[in-house]
Amino acid sequence: MKNILVIGSAGQIGSELTPELRKRYGHSNVVAGIHKTRPSRELLESGPAEIIDITDGEQLPPVIRKYKIDTIYNLAALLSVVGEARPLEAWQVGMNGLLNVLEVSREYRCAVFTPSSIGAFGLSTPLDNTPQDTIQRPQTMYGVTKVAGELLSDYYFKRFGVDTRSVRYPGIISNVTPPGGGTTDYAVEIFYAAVKEKKFTCPIGPNTFLDMMYMPDALEAAIQLMEADPSRLKHRNSFNVTAMSFCPEMIAEEIRGQIPDFKISYEIDPIKQSIADSWPNKMDDSCAREEWDWNPKYDLPGMTKDMLGITEKKAESGFPSSEIGPRAS
Ligand code: SER
Repeated sequence: MKNILVIGSAGQIGSELTPELRKRYGHSNVVAGIHKTRPSRELLESGPAEIIDITDGEQLPPVIRKYKIDTIYNLAALLSVVGEARPLEAWQVGMNGLLNVLEVSREYRCAVFTPSSIGAFGLSTPLDNTPQDTIQRPQTMYGVTKVAGELLSDYYFKRFGVDTRSVRYPGIISNVTPPGGGTTDYAVEIFYAAVKEKKFTCPIGPNTFLDMMYMPDALEAAIQLMEADPSRLKHRNSFNVTAMSFCPEMIAEEIRGQIPDFKISYEIDPIKQSIADSWPNKMDDSCAREEWDWNPKYDLPGMTKDMLGITEKKAESGFPSSEIGPRAS
């Protein structure tokens, strides 16, 4: 990886992956691709940056040529709940956008990382210790685009030799940019609510288990997989990766270890609940461990301690308005 383009740089993952890649590969070698609806002054001013809409196939080639890009991190997506509200847009971005990225990568020989998700599974999948290779019949548009995206990316690898690689991310917990309308967002929102109000109203039921991961491990997964020795990879699109599996009661209990009077109550959101019920409780990520040494650092106690520490510091200096609650997407 010498010249990297991050598409979706202003999003939850992109806003942390872009600076991390710049730290590792050199500031001027990482171009921030930003969507016009989410202009980020910080990104536009801190290094090379371009406004890009991947649903317009004409916009990518000039950027690839201008910066001699050889690696693309394609993070553009509408998350699961927003995808149910705007399914055609979710398809446009997830599929037509991906096709444009793969086509430009075929032409200019770029490697491509496009995250898949726990959302690529559905009710007919074994939900405990979900195998790497198993039934994938998701019920959401988000999931449909993720499964189709996995297949399309594998097709471009096999048919055209494009170096496509991907992980199935679980819910990602982070403290820089809020997630934009996913089912797992509660696991981020709970920390802000705990610090501000010592109480949280949870939209999914107390015993609903889902896989989760802290952002530092999510960044490591993406970079480590893109750096992996290709001769070791039996899979490509996509690897199960997880770091912890918990339900709302468990994370509330963990938070109470540091904020003893923290209270959780429940107001179930039927859409979020039905999506969460159709996703794995816990994935088996042994293929990622075997093929590219995946080994996450943060478990539930480690992540909770770090998240609370950072969220408390932010509260002391006043939350930026973009972090007060979930972003309307
Ligand atoms: N975090 C995503 C969502 O909840 C899942 O990958 O939609």
